[in-house]
Amino acid sequence: MIDLHCHILPGLDDGSESLEESMQMAAMAADQGVRHIVATPHCRTGSAPDVIDGVAMLRELLQEAEIPIRLYTGMEIFGSFDTARLLREKKLLTLNGSRYPLIEFSFYTDGTAETEILQTVIDAGYTPLVAHPERYEYICQQPELINQWKKMGCLFQVNRCSLLGRNGEDTQMMALELVERGFATVVATDAHSSRVRTPRAADAYEMLYHSVSPKAAEMLMIQNPKKIITNNLVPPVEPDWFR
Ligand SMILES: [Fe+2]
Repeated sequence: MIDLHCHILPGLDDGSESLEESMQMAAMAADQGVRHIVATPHCRTGSAPDVIDGVAMLRELLQEAEIPIRLYTGMEIFGSFDTARLLREKKLLTLNGSRYPLIEFSFYTDGTAETEILQTVIDAGYTPLVAHPERYEYICQQPELINQWKKMGCLFQVNRCSLLGRNGEDTQMMALELVERGFATVVATDAHSSRVRTPRAADAYEMLYHSVSPKAAEMLMIQNPKKIITNNLVPPVEPDWFR
């Protein structure tokens, strides 16, 4: 499996707190069948060199410890009207240097500015992968916004914990709807530590395999993430639109 959203780098955000914990997270992911992880610390304005250095350092340690995980650079970008410019200036990083930036937003908003921000990123030539839309209350209340973002060209990443029901019932229902209606492009762990919000991925894969379909599990956790880190086009899917 490929995990496109993981706070595995130590000391850059509220994710891993130490190199030791980063190594534990990697070992845990590897045990579950994950082979590729994109390191995605929270970022607003910059810190690309910190991410690049952090990935290089952790890569070496993983190799030394023979943990079979390939690590890539990325960020979970907090979307703003500066995002498009900062991406062009390479101050913000996309997922493994692809056309796909992972973008999150505030939980306390109504989606209006977010739509405009996403459009500026698209106009700059990128394809936004919106992080965990199911966690935003305004999306649960007006899912037609997902129609709009999809028509603009956005892709969507659903969190493992949301699918498993650990973020509440509404979030779980929205996560499942995004998958079943064909809006979800990727399911990722959004792991923050080796204790809670861990990089375990097998339970989400199993859940998708049995509750949705084997094809969905493979598409969301292997094939589409692979297309993204290799900067290839994700095959377009006509969703069952929200009405
Ligand atoms: Fe995250």
